[in-house]
Amino acid sequence: MLPAAPSSPRSRGGRRTGAGPHITDIPPTPQLDLSGTPPNAAVPTPSLGTHVSSGRQQQKQDKRQSTLASIARIYPYAKKAMPRIYLGMVSAMIAAIVALMIPQVLGALVDGPLKSGDAGQIWWPVATVLGLGVVEAVMIWFRRWFVLEPGTRVEARMRNALYNRLQDLPVAFHDRWPSGQLLSRAISDLGLIRRWISFGILLLVVNVLTILVGFVLLVRINWVLGVAFMVCSIPLWIYGYFFENKYSVVARRSQDQAGDLATAVEEAVHGIRVLKAFGRGQFALKNFASQAEDLRGTEIEKAKTIANIWLWLLLVPDVTFALCLLVGVWLASGGNITVGELVTFFATATVLRWPVESIGFLLSMTVDTRTAVDRFFEVMDAPNTIVDPEHPQTIEKPEGRLVFENAHFRYQDSPAQYPDLLDGIDLALEPGETMAIVGLTGSGKSTLTALASRLYDVTGGAITLDGVDIRQLSREELHGHLAVAFEDATLFSASVRDNVLLGRPESTDAELAEALDIAQAGFVYDLPQGLDTKVGEEGLSLSGGQRQRLALARAVAAKPSILVLDDPLSALDVDTEALVEAALRRVLAATTALIVAHRPSTVMLADRVALLEGGRITAVGKHSDLLATSDHYRFVISSLEDEEKREEQERDDDRRDDDERDEQDELKGASV
Ligand SMILES: Nc1ncnc2c1ncn2[C@@H]1O[C@H](COP(=O)(O)OP(=O)(O)OP(=O)(O)O)[C@@H](O)[C@H]1O
Ligand SMILES: [Mg+2]
Repeated sequence: MLPAAPSSPRSRGGRRTGAGPHITDIPPTPQLDLSGTPPNAAVPTPSLGTHVSSGRQQQKQDKRQSTLASIARIYPYAKKAMPRIYLGMVSAMIAAIVALMIPQVLGALVDGPLKSGDAGQIWWPVATVLGLGVVEAVMIWFRRWFVLEPGTRVEARMRNALYNRLQDLPVAFHDRWPSGQLLSRAISDLGLIRRWISFGILLLVVNVLTILVGFVLLVRINWVLGVAFMVCSIPLWIYGYFFENKYSVVARRSQDQAGDLATAVEEAVHGIRVLKAFGRGQFALKNFASQAEDLRGTEIEKAKTIANIWLWLLLVPDVTFALCLLVGVWLASGGNITVGELVTFFATATVLRWPVESIGFLLSMTVDTRTAVDRFFEVMDAPNTIVDPEHPQTIEKPEGRLVFENAHFRYQDSPAQYPDLLDGIDLALEPGETMAIVGLTGSGKSTLTALASRLYDVTGGAITLDGVDIRQLSREELHGHLAVAFEDATLFSASVRDNVLLGRPESTDAELAEALDIAQAGFVYDLPQGLDTKVGEEGLSLSGGQRQRLALARAVAAKPSILVLDDPLSALDVDTEALVEAALRRVLAATTALIVAHRPSTVMLADRVALLEGGRITAVGKHSDLLATSDHYRFVISSLEDEEKREEQERDDDRRDDDERDEQDELKGASV
């Protein structure tokens, strides 16, 4: 467990940081809930154990559905690939039948030319065996050729569908699902499904058919031997059934634990700076190692289950062979079976050996695939509460009047006894007005801004844009009218240009330059490739203030009728902040804006200020009026001033440290 988990399970802005809570502290992963209802919000924080045991419960619940019925759900993605898969099956079946014909020729050879000693007749059977061998090889080649492509296509189709779904699902879903679980579903689970489609299902069908055809042939050669062979195989089928039951539980646990582990890696890599700065690397490693150990335990249990079925798969045919040999020799000595028939029998049984042995492996693969398919559909079936209306309304001429009408909101996992976080917000922003939201930390300011852009939907009341409930607009239209700059400025691994023009890619170069100018982001022109420099996680690292300015430019460049800025200037120094404010004033004159303010100077940008207190807007007015009339407002502003002073002090200290380091470096350089 990482040190001091903060009260919120997510870092602000929705991204989990390395300092955030460990996976086991995160609200229940709803992957195990297929009931179709949203996961219970008030469930206590589970440990890994809970996670796994709910996996078992799920397993029991799913028992109602057979493995094949579960897997059949991928049919819509596999439909187009089916003809090739069928052709692959036909090729494999021909190869198997050809392989079963070879022993018949061998038997005829023993009872014919070998028995009579006529060497001249040996060539035909030999040529036939050679010909059959070639046909078998060609058919196996065809089988591979037919199935290779469809498997990869199905995987790609399912992966695209999953990605699309993840984009569509609301933020509330992403709040609750650890990213590693989603990652492992998108990568390793879909890889399993591809392998099963490419050869698992095919071999399972073909090998079962081969065994059936082989049994018929064995019985035809000699029914006593054939029945003996079949009866001896019965323990295998019984074990196979129990194996599936047992293995499916372990397989599910292993895949869930692999997802948890992926989350742990993602969090540690994402929060590597915090871990290093607090010297908690070893601690995180210990925690990771214990999770990895859990997975190892499960993998060993899985391997043991497979080893058991292998034991049966190897032992049963050997015992069967020995018994059949005993019966066969006895039958041959009594003249009830020819030597050639005995050879055919054992050669056929040898051909059947691999199909019989492979059943265990193919069964485990099928169970793994069923688990993977279940996990895939847990995401695909997750209820999406934020969707476009059936008949969306449109706003022809957006004016930018944003009104919160008795808006209520509570997070899904908020304890039932707590009141709503936003408990009846009434606030009207007139077109062109700039409204600042002020409140104590944790009072719900960021949440309020998230509601305006429908990252979450209000749980009561409504938000209207130009008189239309925002839930009646298509999400695309809403996001065309409203742009947001979040508290933590996330940049994508793309060029500066693409990052800034994310909301309005068709903008001209002049509009891009203007947005960068307003956000005082001129530094981008000095980057190695200017506007084409790749930034973000896999690109050039930018400072917090630089990222924030690009995020602000992104919101401005979208040219919305409503601009929502969640504390947009917090990482800027005083001078830059003053420049951005001056430029922003120009933009804000024409746009309705909702600005969360953490600094008194940001409050000054606003025409009016709304005070958020106890989940309600308790006062709205000009800064000076509120200062004169509201005690709570004075208290909040003075605490913001204190915070600003502290931040300024920290920045000065940092600057002094930097100067000292530079001086020491210079001295060192001089002494060298
Ligand atoms: N995704 C979430 N799931 C559950 N609770 C959340 C989530 N995000 C925030 N909260 C909780 O909601 C409350 C309000 O959070 P919010 O981020 O809106 O506050 P804020 O006023 O913006 O605070 P700050 O001034 O520190 O930015 C906090 O108690 C927080 O723990
Ligand atoms: Mg906030």
